[in-house]
Amino acid sequence: MSVAVVTGSNKGIGLAVVRGLCKQFKGTVYLTARNEERGLAAVKELEAEGLNPSFHQLDIGDAASVEALRDFMKEKHGGIDILVNNAGIAFNHLKPFGEQATVVLKTNYWDTKRACEILFPILKAGARVVNTSSSMGFLGQLDKATNQEKAQQNKKTLAKDDLTVQEIDALMKDFETSANTGTHGDHGWPNYTYIVSKIGFSALSRVQQRQLAEEPSSDIVLNHIHPGWVKTDMGTTAAHFDTDRGAQSILFAALLPPKTDVRGAYLWHDCRVVDWVNGPLPAMV
Ligand SMILES: NC(=O)c1ccc[n+]([C@@H]2O[C@H](COP(=O)([O-])OP(=O)(O)OC[C@H]3O[C@@H](n4cnc5c(N)ncnc54)[C@H](OP(=O)(O)O)[C@@H]3O)[C@@H](O)[C@H]2O)c1
Repeated sequence: MSVAVVTGSNKGIGLAVVRGLCKQFKGTVYLTARNEERGLAAVKELEAEGLNPSFHQLDIGDAASVEALRDFMKEKHGGIDILVNNAGIAFNHLKPFGEQATVVLKTNYWDTKRACEILFPILKAGARVVNTSSSMGFLGQLDKATNQEKAQQNKKTLAKDDLTVQEIDALMKDFETSANTGTHGDHGWPNYTYIVSKIGFSALSRVQQRQLAEEPSSDIVLNHIHPGWVKTDMGTTAAHFDTDRGAQSILFAALLPPKTDVRGAYLWHDCRVVDWVNGPLPAMV
């Protein structure tokens, strides 16, 4: 009855994670896509490789779609054993900048957070959650902001051991609002929406693990990872790794054994644990 779900897995890193889970996980693996046609085409691609993923529609931007997945997983499988929150967008060139901030934060932070809120209640004991962040989600990326006094205040808040989801929400709203008036630099944010969205997601991951640990007997473990710079539609052909290599740290975190010490960690593409607050970041390749 074990089951794994990978969001945004009709292509790119998500598709490679489904491939890897089909080979390494003894359970049912769900490839999900917001567009059913693209999802079923991806299932066919893996079937041609001799693999057997299942399919379910999932658009994290649509609460009803996430709730339908939750109800299906609960009814058919009694919950979820592995959840990979992989769906994401970059849209670095979308103009005006304020619109870019709103659109990118919507998927990478707000919709992802809501999907977690809907799906976490059906995580089974021993479940593994993997949040696909990025090297851009490292807290030290805020050192790129022009107003360093404000940036360091934002960093200090996000690094707190007792950080709350409400505090992260407030900072994400501050970025979005100031980006829409062109004052995000004064507020200590960099000129790069994707960075802020992934920092928000990584900060959220740390809080989520803390909350999940309030029920220690459940042994639910959540980690956030940087997959490397990967050749996908988002990463472009100039990137370092193919998608199977990009899936490596996600598969490692998804298949962590019972009672693992690797929890709430920021994992690099080669699976080493990196200090999200202070770094240093290892080599990109
Ligand atoms: N590639 C890199 O170098 C790199 C580096 C660091 C982190 N990442 C992160 O890794 C993850 C995967 O990236 P990728 O490079 O594989 O990108 P990608 O090839 O562009 O794939 C992104 C996937 O997310 C899906 N998606 C987007 N919005 C969605 C929504 N609202 N609901 C459901 N699915 C949605 C896309 O579906 P559609 O096909 O329908 O658009 C697609 O399947 C992202 O979170 C990204 O930020 C990537």
